[in-house]
Amino acid sequence: MTHVQNRPVNSLWRLRGYLRPFRVQMTVMFLAAITSVAAQIAIPLLTKSVIDGAIAHGARRMLVPLGLAAIGLGMVEALMNMIRRWIQADAVAQIEKTIRDALYAHLQRLQASFHDEWQSGQLLSRATTDLSTIRRFAGFGLIFLVINVLQFTAVIVLLVRLNWWLGLITAAVFTPVLPVCLRFEKRYRVLSRRVQDQQGDLATQIEEAATGIRVLKALGRGKEAAARHDVQATAVYETQVEKAGLLGSFWALLDLIPNAVICVILVLGTVAVSRHALSLGGMVAFITLALQLVWPVEALGYIIASGQEAATAAQRVLEIFDTKPEILSAERTEVLSTAPAHGHLEFRHVGFIYPGAADPVLRDVVLDLPPGKTVVLTGATGSGKSTLLQLVPRLADVSSGAVLLDGTDIRSLPLGDLRAAVGCAFEEATLFSASVRENVTFGAPAASDAEVEAALTAAQARFAYDLPWGLDTRIGEQGMALSGGQRQRIALARAILARPAVLVLDDPLSALDVHTEERVTRALHQILAGVTALVVAHRPSTVALADTVAVLSGGVVAATGTHRELLGSCPEYANLMSASESGVKV
Ligand SMILES: Nc1ncnc2c1ncn2[C@@H]1O[C@H](COP(=O)(O)OP(=O)(O)OP(=O)(O)O)[C@@H](O)[C@H]1O
Ligand SMILES: [Mg+2]
Repeated sequence: MTHVQNRPVNSLWRLRGYLRPFRVQMTVMFLAAITSVAAQIAIPLLTKSVIDGAIAHGARRMLVPLGLAAIGLGMVEALMNMIRRWIQADAVAQIEKTIRDALYAHLQRLQASFHDEWQSGQLLSRATTDLSTIRRFAGFGLIFLVINVLQFTAVIVLLVRLNWWLGLITAAVFTPVLPVCLRFEKRYRVLSRRVQDQQGDLATQIEEAATGIRVLKALGRGKEAAARHDVQATAVYETQVEKAGLLGSFWALLDLIPNAVICVILVLGTVAVSRHALSLGGMVAFITLALQLVWPVEALGYIIASGQEAATAAQRVLEIFDTKPEILSAERTEVLSTAPAHGHLEFRHVGFIYPGAADPVLRDVVLDLPPGKTVVLTGATGSGKSTLLQLVPRLADVSSGAVLLDGTDIRSLPLGDLRAAVGCAFEEATLFSASVRENVTFGAPAASDAEVEAALTAAQARFAYDLPWGLDTRIGEQGMALSGGQRQRIALARAILARPAVLVLDDPLSALDVHTEERVTRALHQILAGVTALVVAHRPSTVALADTVAVLSGGVVAATGTHRELLGSCPEYANLMSASESGVKV
């Protein structure tokens, strides 16, 4: 797995591509915000004209137009804010959705081993919390970062023009806020990354407790699990409190500075007015304008904080985006040599080692499956049967050697074609929270009712018609409402429905009673007639399906032959079979 280390701010910058389609909306939002700020700044200047002109010279006629102008400016400000919020809500939600869709698509492209390595809670919190954080900053922080700097500068310029030395003093008093903000930013960055990571861990733990609830209850480990959860939740709580404390003292300081400024202006302004360096209206305008500096400065703290959070969020999201898919569709793709594929599957000196493992699981597997033949793969637990099977649909790639389909290395076939040609049912019968029909037609959405019925019949899964809503019955997450054997049979129906050229079945009948197994085996016999099949099995009754039996041991195919031949020639095979005959799964 390749991680490119990003600094948080660079990460945020790297996501700018997602803002590009929203250029127009962002520009309108900026313009609306600038207009609203301009109207806000103009109001004190209007007040100055009212006091120094209309009131001081008793020109009452001017009061009405000036008053109307003030109302007009107020309305402009309100209208512009409304427009900005209105666009913001839509554009920003769309930005979040675009990134989330891209993230989802990327997670789908990543190899199975990536998902083995990453905790699902971490992925979940990155796809939800982190993206919301980025959205908040893109919609609010980013615009006001620019607007507030502009507003601050414009107000200071006006203040200097009203009275240059009082203006400069005001600016000087506000200046120390900047280094304070930067120091705060550094400490806040550490805390916000910590809390985001901890939330990811917490999500993982809650998810595991939910999916593993039966084990927890059965083993009576609820208390311990709750204690572990409490430790994790406390960690999140403590970091959050620390973060809030830091934020609190920062804001207290930011509140203090503007009030001190008002104090200074009141004292020095009175001096200026008494020396006729500032008109009375000018003094009122000066104070009102100076008060307008408070919000940009205060908000700067919030904006820096939310920018910081967005930056760490971007960093966490990019850690996923930067992981390159290892299993790619071939660039110079070859077309399956015969259409439809005959399904000649060949393992040529295949070796496989799990990333980070010391020893290879498969060392030199040589196995030939002629078209239409069924090979049963057997071997002790942990011998690498499931590992070998996952190489066929390229859930992982061989470390050495090659897997060939109809004479072509599967790595030079388009991934979609390969996966359409190979039907799989794995050890863990994973069903999705959807109806039985949707689960069965997952790999062949266009299948007709008759085809679905044929697949369910062959897999001895007709019980599905007797469920409360028949095939429309929703089966829960991981098919919770079904028994293990029922789930296996639905998964088997799913694998055979698409009529693939090659069928890869990992212990498809392990959870069935002997009688059901016998019926499924008989039905499978018919289905497997025209299909090349690689089936992992342990029981003699399933082994009877095989044209050839292969025994996997020590990372190689140690022996091949018919059931009868192997019983005589391969002691390990005889041993495996006798153990399972007596009902013990090897
Ligand atoms: N994702 C993984 N990462 C690292 N090692 C793994 C992984 N999956 C399996 N292994 C290791 O590879 C070896 C072979 O596992 P595999 O699941 O292929 O065995 P198996 O023959 O299917 O066993 P069983 O009959 O119990 O299903 C085991 O030693 C296992 O610990
Ligand atoms: Mg296995």
